[in-house]
Amino acid sequence: MDFKLSEEQLMIRDAARDFAKAELLPGVIERDNKQEFPTEQVKRMGELGFLGMMASPEYGGGGMDTVSYVLVMEELSKIDASCSVIVSVNNSLVCWGLDTYGTPEQKAKYLSKLTTGESIGAFCLSEPEAGSDATSQKTTAIDKGDHYILNGTKNWITNGGSADYYLVIAQTDKEKKHRGINAFIVEKGWEGFEIGPKEDKLGIRGSDTHSLIFNDVKVPKENRIGEDGFGFKFAMKTLAGGRIGIAAQALGIAAGAYELAKEYSKVRKAFGTEIMNHQAIAFKLADMHVQIEAARMLVYKAAMDKDNHEDYDLSGAMAKLAASQAAMEVSVEAVQVHGGNGFVKEYHVERMMRDAKITQIYEGTSEIQKIVISRSILKD
Ligand code: CAA
Repeated sequence: MDFKLSEEQLMIRDAARDFAKAELLPGVIERDNKQEFPTEQVKRMGELGFLGMMASPEYGGGGMDTVSYVLVMEELSKIDASCSVIVSVNNSLVCWGLDTYGTPEQKAKYLSKLTTGESIGAFCLSEPEAGSDATSQKTTAIDKGDHYILNGTKNWITNGGSADYYLVIAQTDKEKKHRGINAFIVEKGWEGFEIGPKEDKLGIRGSDTHSLIFNDVKVPKENRIGEDGFGFKFAMKTLAGGRIGIAAQALGIAAGAYELAKEYSKVRKAFGTEIMNHQAIAFKLADMHVQIEAARMLVYKAAMDKDNHEDYDLSGAMAKLAASQAAMEVSVEAVQVHGGNGFVKEYHVERMMRDAKITQIYEGTSEIQKIVISRSILKD
């Protein structure tokens, strides 16, 4: 496998790196403290083309490959994982889902605004009783001829309050179980659509997470995505790609925390020398480096599989499992390398440790990734 990046990919990575340092780093601690949505930064990311990277240029997208996308995700996540999750959901779940399965009318009306950042999207699958068990949707969408009537509650929705358009998964025919599920485009402000309170979270505090309540919301039939009953497959296929984006986010958190720990070890002195000269620290850095490189290979491999139109369910799940574990373990070690300073906000690593945890939970917990992986390796 050739992991050599093209000139263009390197340019995109460097642009994201420069942007993150110049425009995400200032204020990242404050946004985390105040749980403040990065409105200005999201606008800038739209201008830079980070919000619809893989979508068709015809609809304002960048027409780029998945490798470029994961490079950007990694760089943004090194500095601010709250911003990168907004990018991830908008790119992988919303824009990719619409670009791949939407009608030309849906794309013209919605996708062209989502790719540029004029509008933001949210992906609404999880429910109070249907988190990991995604087939057990309780939200219903009853067919009324030219429209559906949507009722139910969605939970833990990223961009829940800030989005303009919501892809909502709902049960239309209970008897048919997962084959009776559909996905719909729902607009903010439609009658009966209420946004619940913002969650007070451990990490990624700059992104806004809400529950959503649908009370007899009228959804025109032309807003259904794909054929009747396609909703569950739509969600699974979209999430399979989304997992590559979150794997890249986890990789970025790990790499960002490692870089801070490495730099700190070169300047902090203890027992008469810089702490990097103590094996206790040097060995930690060696372990962190290896774990990050191993995760990076899996993330690039999954992105390349997707770009090469090969199956990426397995490689995406492997990448997410490994990278999220790296994010958690490396960020904990980065705090340890910083000692007492690691526990203090201005050194950033405590935030990264808090942010890392969600990568083992959303877009399928680590246990869900193991289900996907074990099913794949045991099927033949
Ligand atoms: N691509 C296409 N189709 C797929 C698929 C995939 N990757 N995975 C499953 N399917 C299809 C199957 O083929 C099957 O269809 P048929 O019966 O027609 O063949 C159907 O879906 C049901 O599949 P399973 O029987 O395998 O379903 P399951 O219930 O046993 O398990 C699961 C599936 C993998 C556990 C799934 O429920 C799952 O992924 N759960 C986790 C949900 C999740 O990731 N939620 C994240 C929420 S979004 C989010 O977090 C965004 C955010 O905020 C950042």
